[in-house]
Amino acid sequence: MALLPVLEGLHSAESFHRAFLDAFFERAREIEAHPLQFEDSLKGRLIAAVFEEASTRTRLSFETAAHRMGARVISISDVKSTSHAKGESLLDSARMVGSYADLVVWRHPRDGATRLISQAVDVPVVNAGDGRLGHPTQTLVDLYTLYREWGSLEGKTVGIMGDLRNGRTCRSLLWGLSLAGARVVLLPATGLDWEAGFETRVLERSGLRSREVCHSLFKEWTGSESARLIEPKGLLQGSLFRDHTPRLDHLDALYLTRLQVERGGKASSGGYPGIRIPQLRDALLESCLILHPLPRLAEVPVELDQDPRARYFMQAQMGPIVRQALFLAMLRPDVWPLPDLAPLPSGNPEHRLGPCQNPGCITLQEGLRAPWRVCGRKNRLFLCSYCDSKLTVEYVGCKSSKRVHPIHSQEVMKIRPENLRPYVSRDDALEEGYQWGG
Ligand code: NCD
Repeated sequence: MALLPVLEGLHSAESFHRAFLDAFFERAREIEAHPLQFEDSLKGRLIAAVFEEASTRTRLSFETAAHRMGARVISISDVKSTSHAKGESLLDSARMVGSYADLVVWRHPRDGATRLISQAVDVPVVNAGDGRLGHPTQTLVDLYTLYREWGSLEGKTVGIMGDLRNGRTCRSLLWGLSLAGARVVLLPATGLDWEAGFETRVLERSGLRSREVCHSLFKEWTGSESARLIEPKGLLQGSLFRDHTPRLDHLDALYLTRLQVERGGKASSGGYPGIRIPQLRDALLESCLILHPLPRLAEVPVELDQDPRARYFMQAQMGPIVRQALFLAMLRPDVWPLPDLAPLPSGNPEHRLGPCQNPGCITLQEGLRAPWRVCGRKNRLFLCSYCDSKLTVEYVGCKSSKRVHPIHSQEVMKIRPENLRPYVSRDDALEEGYQWGG
């Protein structure tokens, strides 16, 4: 696997892999154990924090991390006070911020924003949450909180519950848990499951499979007794239960999230899933750690705060330590090298496709055409390389044979990725000199 130096930035939890995560958590553990040793590690460095959306923990923990290591911080938390309000493009603002600071942390309401920002900036850019798409540093916090407890996440069973569709922490966490070797039980609130295609992509990248499991508590949470369990392919116990859905007997951790109202999340008439105190007596949750990225609403009652299984405030406490480890990896690779991150596939800007169909995509705000990336083992999928949404493609040409085929034709799977040329209309392809391949 070709790897991207970690100092080039962190945009998506899709870039994590086991060797990176293991080394990262060891580093975080050292920082946690010997905080004073790192006091001057970033002396003379300047970190910019731009938060175009509300934040308490994330912004403060990035700033705390910088201050703990002697770096200085410049920050913007009210975009109304910037030239953005005068209509300046994101790329222009980013170019300027990137020329002042040694590292840029950016939170943005649009999907894929930091991937775009990094095009204009020569220093590392860290995604502090982009729209519904991702929140990779929160995932590092979530995983580190579990790693501290267990030493390894391999084989542990973790539930993710709530507004999966709109919750960026959930989306990133699925990447993180699956790449760390955990089993994941998906408990989406009614009508708030992720869009088709996302889970398949995670399964393909991590070599995992999905099967159904059941438990009576799932019904109280999601309205259905059964839930999808994602796990390594080697664990084939599922075949023993061909005729009925196996019951899950325990969860090692459960990650709850709030309804993302600001991103269009709506609770169904059945309500929104959360823990109720009597449920904590069920064997399923007997030794289950309760996590939440915060802020919490009613899904985690305050009575749970005193329970020995509650870990959400511990998560928040780990925020600065994890961000210290990230800053060190990015700004002091000479002293604190870490394995490189897996690069996100690069985008191809050449095409005559329409705009990205995702109304939250950064390309729509900035009036840009979405570059495409391709994935899929059974069918070719063309995705916006900023927001990962499926682009509308009906025909695919092969640049070497100069023939064009319907997207679902078997011929398309035979075309090498570098020779793919996607089209919405056959006429566009014929106009560019392609022959109809059928
Ligand atoms: C999350 C976020 O902003 O996505 N909060 C955080 O960073 N800790 C979760 C949320 O707002 O629900």
